[in-house]
Amino acid sequence: MTSASPAASASDVWKVYGNGEAQVVALRDINVQFHKEQFTAIMGPSGSGKSTLMHCLAGLDTTDRGAVSIGETVITGMKDKQLTKLRREKIGFIFQQFNLLPTLTAQENITLPAAIAGTKADDEWVKQITKTLDLDERLHHKPTELSGGQQQRVACARALATRPEVIFADEPTGNLDTRSGTEVLRFLRQSVDQFGQTIVMVTHDPGAAAYADRVVFLADGLIVDDMADPTADAVIDRMRHFEELVAARTESEAA
Ligand SMILES: Nc1ncnc2c1ncn2[C@@H]1O[C@H](COP(=O)(O)OP(=O)(O)O)[C@@H](O)[C@H]1O
Ligand SMILES: [Mg+2]
Repeated sequence: MTSASPAASASDVWKVYGNGEAQVVALRDINVQFHKEQFTAIMGPSGSGKSTLMHCLAGLDTTDRGAVSIGETVITGMKDKQLTKLRREKIGFIFQQFNLLPTLTAQENITLPAAIAGTKADDEWVKQITKTLDLDERLHHKPTELSGGQQQRVACARALATRPEVIFADEPTGNLDTRSGTEVLRFLRQSVDQFGQTIVMVTHDPGAAAYADRVVFLADGLIVDDMADPTADAVIDRMRHFEELVAARTESEAA
Protein backbone atom coordinates (compact mmCIF):
# COMPACT_ATOMS: atom_id res chain seq x y z
CA MET A 1 0.00 0.00 0.00
CA THR A 2 1.26 3.46 -0.84
CA SER A 3 0.28 6.58 1.03
CA ALA A 4 -1.28 8.05 -2.13
CA SER A 5 -4.70 9.57 -1.55
CA PRO A 6 -7.68 7.46 -2.59
CA ALA A 7 -9.37 8.13 -5.94
CA ALA A 8 -12.63 8.87 -4.11
CA SER A 9 -13.71 8.91 -0.50
CA ALA A 10 -16.63 9.66 1.80
CA SER A 11 -16.16 10.77 5.42
CA ASP A 12 -19.03 10.73 7.92
CA VAL A 13 -21.56 11.13 5.10
CA TRP A 14 -25.27 11.32 5.84
CA LYS A 15 -28.06 11.69 3.29
CA VAL A 16 -31.70 12.19 4.24
CA TYR A 17 -34.58 12.50 1.77
CA GLY A 18 -37.84 14.22 2.62
CA ASN A 19 -38.92 15.25 6.10
CA GLY A 20 -41.36 14.40 8.88
CA GLU A 21 -43.26 11.16 8.32
CA ALA A 22 -41.88 10.79 4.81
CA GLN A 23 -38.25 11.07 5.91
CA VAL A 24 -35.87 8.43 4.58
CA VAL A 25 -32.33 8.17 5.89
CA ALA A 26 -30.59 6.87 2.78
CA LEU A 27 -26.99 7.05 4.08
CA ARG A 28 -25.96 6.83 7.76
CA ASP A 29 -22.48 7.96 8.62
CA ILE A 30 -20.70 6.43 5.63
CA ASN A 31 -16.91 6.21 5.76
CA VAL A 32 -15.28 4.60 2.76
CA GLN A 33 -12.23 5.06 0.54
CA PHE A 34 -11.84 3.80 -3.00
CA HIS A 35 -8.21 3.13 -3.81
CA LYS A 36 -6.54 4.01 -7.06
CA GLU A 37 -6.30 1.34 -9.75
CA GLN A 38 -8.83 -0.83 -7.95
CA PHE A 39 -12.16 -2.22 -9.11
CA THR A 40 -14.73 -2.01 -6.30
CA ALA A 41 -18.28 -3.33 -6.43
CA ILE A 42 -21.03 -1.90 -4.22
CA MET A 43 -23.75 -4.39 -3.37
CA GLY A 44 -26.78 -4.48 -1.11
CA PRO A 45 -30.53 -5.10 -1.13
CA SER A 46 -32.77 -2.82 -3.18
CA GLY A 47 -33.22 0.50 -1.36
CA SER A 48 -30.02 0.08 0.71
CA GLY A 49 -28.53 3.34 -0.61
CA LYS A 50 -26.20 2.13 -3.39
CA SER A 51 -27.27 4.67 -6.01
CA THR A 52 -27.45 7.44 -3.42
CA LEU A 53 -23.87 6.72 -2.34
CA MET A 54 -22.68 6.71 -5.92
CA HIS A 55 -24.51 9.96 -6.70
CA CYS A 56 -23.03 11.64 -3.62
CA LEU A 57 -19.52 10.39 -4.45
CA ALA A 58 -19.83 11.64 -8.03
CA GLY A 59 -21.14 15.06 -7.02
CA LEU A 60 -24.49 14.41 -8.73
CA ASP A 61 -26.25 14.82 -5.39
CA THR A 62 -25.34 16.76 -2.24
CA THR A 63 -24.73 15.25 1.20
CA ASP A 64 -26.49 16.46 4.34
CA ARG A 65 -23.44 15.95 6.53
CA GLY A 66 -19.87 14.84 5.99
CA ALA A 67 -17.49 15.30 3.09
CA VAL A 68 -16.75 13.69 -0.26
CA SER A 69 -13.42 13.91 -2.06
CA ILE A 70 -12.37 13.05 -5.60
CA GLY A 71 -8.61 12.55 -5.55
CA GLU A 72 -7.25 15.28 -3.31
CA THR A 73 -10.14 17.63 -3.97
CA VAL A 74 -12.96 18.01 -1.44
CA ILE A 75 -16.08 18.45 -3.59
CA THR A 76 -18.51 19.03 -0.71
CA GLY A 77 -19.65 22.63 -0.73
CA MET A 78 -18.23 23.35 -4.19
CA LYS A 79 -20.09 25.80 -6.40
CA ASP A 80 -22.10 24.19 -9.23
CA LYS A 81 -19.90 25.53 -11.97
CA GLN A 82 -16.71 24.31 -10.34
CA LEU A 83 -18.29 20.93 -9.60
CA THR A 84 -19.48 20.51 -13.18
CA LYS A 85 -15.95 21.22 -14.41
CA LEU A 86 -14.47 18.71 -11.97
CA ARG A 87 -17.00 16.06 -13.02
CA ARG A 88 -16.11 16.56 -16.68
CA GLU A 89 -12.40 16.32 -16.05
CA LYS A 90 -12.15 13.72 -13.30
CA ILE A 91 -15.18 11.43 -13.45
CA GLY A 92 -16.46 8.95 -16.01
CA PHE A 93 -19.96 7.50 -15.90
CA ILE A 94 -21.49 4.29 -17.18
CA PHE A 95 -25.26 3.93 -16.72
CA GLN A 96 -27.59 0.97 -16.97
CA GLN A 97 -29.45 2.66 -19.86
CA PHE A 98 -26.24 3.53 -21.79
CA ASN A 99 -27.30 7.22 -22.09
CA LEU A 100 -25.78 7.79 -25.52
CA LEU A 101 -26.90 10.79 -27.58
CA PRO A 102 -29.07 9.35 -30.38
CA THR A 103 -28.16 11.93 -33.03
CA LEU A 104 -24.41 11.38 -32.68
CA THR A 105 -22.30 8.52 -34.04
CA ALA A 106 -20.46 6.17 -31.69
CA GLN A 107 -17.22 8.05 -32.35
CA GLU A 108 -18.86 11.41 -31.61
CA ASN A 109 -20.43 10.06 -28.42
CA ILE A 110 -17.02 8.82 -27.27
CA THR A 111 -15.22 12.11 -27.84
CA LEU A 112 -18.07 14.38 -26.69
CA PRO A 113 -17.10 14.66 -22.98
CA ALA A 114 -13.56 15.76 -23.90
CA ALA A 115 -14.98 18.26 -26.40
CA ILE A 116 -17.35 19.68 -23.77
CA ALA A 117 -14.50 19.88 -21.24
CA GLY A 118 -12.68 21.99 -23.81
CA THR A 119 -9.85 19.52 -24.31
CA LYS A 120 -9.36 17.32 -27.31
CA ALA A 121 -9.57 13.56 -26.83
CA ASP A 122 -6.20 11.88 -27.32
CA ASP A 123 -6.70 10.17 -30.73
CA GLU A 124 -4.21 7.37 -30.09
CA TRP A 125 -5.75 6.63 -26.72
CA VAL A 126 -9.30 6.58 -28.11
CA LYS A 127 -8.13 4.27 -30.91
CA GLN A 128 -6.58 1.91 -28.39
CA ILE A 129 -9.76 1.78 -26.32
CA THR A 130 -12.12 1.31 -29.26
CA LYS A 131 -9.89 -1.44 -30.64
CA THR A 132 -9.85 -3.22 -27.27
CA LEU A 133 -13.65 -2.91 -27.19
CA ASP A 134 -13.94 -4.27 -30.73
CA LEU A 135 -15.77 -1.14 -31.89
CA ASP A 136 -13.57 -0.28 -34.90
CA GLU A 137 -16.24 -1.26 -37.41
CA ARG A 138 -19.02 0.50 -35.56
CA LEU A 139 -17.64 3.96 -34.94
CA HIS A 140 -19.72 5.67 -37.64
CA HIS A 141 -23.00 4.08 -36.58
CA LYS A 142 -25.68 5.82 -34.54
CA PRO A 143 -26.79 4.20 -31.25
CA THR A 144 -30.03 2.84 -32.82
CA GLU A 145 -27.88 0.91 -35.30
CA LEU A 146 -26.02 -0.82 -32.47
CA SER A 147 -26.92 -3.75 -30.20
CA GLY A 148 -27.28 -3.15 -26.46
CA GLY A 149 -23.87 -4.70 -25.86
CA GLN A 150 -22.27 -2.47 -28.49
CA GLN A 151 -23.97 0.61 -27.06
CA GLN A 152 -22.66 -0.17 -23.59
CA ARG A 153 -19.17 -0.72 -25.03
CA VAL A 154 -19.44 2.75 -26.59
CA ALA A 155 -20.44 4.09 -23.16
CA CYS A 156 -17.36 2.36 -21.68
CA ALA A 157 -15.11 3.98 -24.29
CA ARG A 158 -16.73 7.35 -23.59
CA ALA A 159 -16.08 6.94 -19.84
CA LEU A 160 -12.41 6.07 -20.38
CA ALA A 161 -11.68 8.61 -23.13
CA THR A 162 -10.84 11.47 -20.75
CA ARG A 163 -8.70 9.21 -18.49
CA PRO A 164 -10.80 10.11 -15.45
CA GLU A 165 -9.62 9.78 -11.86
CA VAL A 166 -12.52 7.38 -11.28
CA ILE A 167 -15.33 5.76 -13.25
CA PHE A 168 -18.69 5.24 -11.57
CA ALA A 169 -20.89 2.57 -13.09
CA ASP A 170 -24.48 2.01 -11.87
CA GLU A 171 -25.68 -1.49 -12.83
CA PRO A 172 -23.74 -1.40 -16.14
CA THR A 173 -24.77 -4.95 -17.04
CA GLY A 174 -28.38 -4.61 -15.84
CA ASN A 175 -29.79 -4.25 -19.35
CA LEU A 176 -27.52 -6.72 -21.13
CA ASP A 177 -27.72 -10.41 -21.93
CA THR A 178 -25.13 -12.58 -20.16
CA ARG A 179 -22.69 -12.63 -23.06
CA SER A 180 -22.70 -8.85 -23.62
CA GLY A 181 -22.55 -8.31 -19.87
CA THR A 182 -19.50 -10.55 -19.62
CA GLU A 183 -17.77 -8.58 -22.39
CA VAL A 184 -18.37 -5.33 -20.54
CA LEU A 185 -17.15 -6.78 -17.21
CA ARG A 186 -14.03 -8.23 -18.84
CA PHE A 187 -13.29 -4.82 -20.32
CA LEU A 188 -13.76 -3.05 -16.99
CA ARG A 189 -11.39 -5.57 -15.39
CA GLN A 190 -8.88 -5.07 -18.19
CA SER A 191 -9.06 -1.29 -17.92
CA VAL A 192 -8.03 -1.57 -14.26
CA ASP A 193 -5.27 -4.15 -14.86
CA GLN A 194 -3.81 -2.70 -18.05
CA PHE A 195 -4.70 0.99 -18.02
CA GLY A 196 -4.65 1.63 -14.27
CA GLN A 197 -8.25 2.87 -14.26
CA THR A 198 -10.16 3.12 -10.96
CA ILE A 199 -13.73 1.80 -11.07
CA VAL A 200 -16.61 1.82 -8.60
CA MET A 201 -19.56 -0.27 -9.80
CA VAL A 202 -22.99 -0.77 -8.28
CA THR A 203 -24.40 -4.18 -9.10
CA HIS A 204 -27.09 -6.65 -8.04
CA ASP A 205 -25.26 -9.53 -9.64
CA PRO A 206 -22.82 -11.62 -7.55
CA GLY A 207 -21.25 -12.86 -10.80
CA ALA A 208 -20.51 -9.26 -11.81
CA ALA A 209 -19.16 -8.43 -8.34
CA ALA A 210 -16.71 -11.33 -8.67
CA TYR A 211 -14.86 -9.33 -11.35
CA ALA A 212 -14.02 -6.70 -8.73
CA ASP A 213 -11.07 -6.56 -6.31
CA ARG A 214 -13.32 -5.68 -3.44
CA VAL A 215 -17.01 -5.61 -2.54
CA VAL A 216 -18.51 -3.03 -0.18
CA PHE A 217 -21.89 -4.16 1.18
CA LEU A 218 -24.61 -1.69 2.09
CA ALA A 219 -27.74 -2.44 4.10
CA ASP A 220 -30.19 0.20 5.20
CA GLY A 221 -27.80 3.06 4.48
CA LEU A 222 -24.93 1.53 6.44
CA ILE A 223 -21.75 -0.15 5.27
CA VAL A 224 -22.14 -3.58 6.80
CA ASP A 225 -19.24 -5.45 5.23
CA ASP A 226 -16.16 -5.11 3.07
CA MET A 227 -14.82 -8.16 1.22
CA ALA A 228 -11.50 -8.50 -0.60
CA ASP A 229 -11.03 -10.77 -3.63
CA PRO A 230 -14.71 -11.75 -3.86
CA THR A 231 -16.03 -14.90 -5.48
CA ALA A 232 -19.64 -15.19 -6.67
CA ASP A 233 -20.36 -17.86 -4.02
CA ALA A 234 -18.94 -15.81 -1.17
CA VAL A 235 -20.98 -12.78 -2.31
CA ILE A 236 -24.21 -14.83 -2.61
CA ASP A 237 -23.65 -16.14 0.89
CA ARG A 238 -23.14 -12.68 2.36
CA MET A 239 -26.12 -11.18 0.48
CA ARG A 240 -28.43 -13.93 1.75
CA HIS A 241 -27.36 -13.10 5.29
CA PHE A 242 -28.12 -9.36 4.86
CA GLU A 243 -31.45 -10.01 3.15
CA GLU A 244 -32.47 -12.22 6.09
CA LEU A 245 -31.50 -9.48 8.53
CA VAL A 246 -33.53 -6.89 6.60
CA ALA A 247 -36.53 -9.26 6.34
CA ALA A 248 -36.40 -10.01 10.09
CA ARG A 249 -36.33 -6.29 10.89
CA THR A 250 -39.20 -5.50 8.51
CA GLU A 251 -41.27 -8.28 10.12
CA SER A 252 -40.59 -7.05 13.63
CA GLU A 253 -41.48 -3.49 12.58
CA ALA A 254 -44.77 -4.74 11.05
CA ALA A 255 -45.64 -6.72 14.21
N1 LIG B 1 -34.96 11.39 -4.64
C1 LIG B 1 -35.39 10.68 -3.60
N2 LIG B 1 -36.40 11.11 -2.81
C2 LIG B 1 -36.82 10.39 -1.75
N3 LIG B 1 -36.31 9.20 -1.41
C3 LIG B 1 -35.32 8.70 -2.15
C4 LIG B 1 -34.81 9.40 -3.30
N4 LIG B 1 -33.81 8.65 -3.83
C5 LIG B 1 -33.71 7.54 -3.08
N5 LIG B 1 -34.61 7.57 -2.07
C6 LIG B 1 -34.78 6.54 -1.02
O1 LIG B 1 -33.51 6.34 -0.41
C7 LIG B 1 -33.29 4.95 -0.16
C8 LIG B 1 -32.03 4.49 -0.92
O2 LIG B 1 -32.30 4.53 -2.32
P1 LIG B 1 -31.25 4.10 -3.43
O3 LIG B 1 -29.95 4.76 -3.13
O4 LIG B 1 -31.84 4.35 -4.76
O5 LIG B 1 -31.10 2.53 -3.14
P2 LIG B 1 -30.48 1.39 -4.08
O6 LIG B 1 -29.75 2.00 -5.20
O7 LIG B 1 -29.61 0.59 -3.14
O8 LIG B 1 -31.65 0.54 -4.53
C9 LIG B 1 -34.56 4.24 -0.59
O9 LIG B 1 -35.38 4.09 0.55
C10 LIG B 1 -35.18 5.19 -1.58
O10 LIG B 1 -36.57 5.04 -1.61
MG1 LIG C 1 -30.02 1.87 -7.30
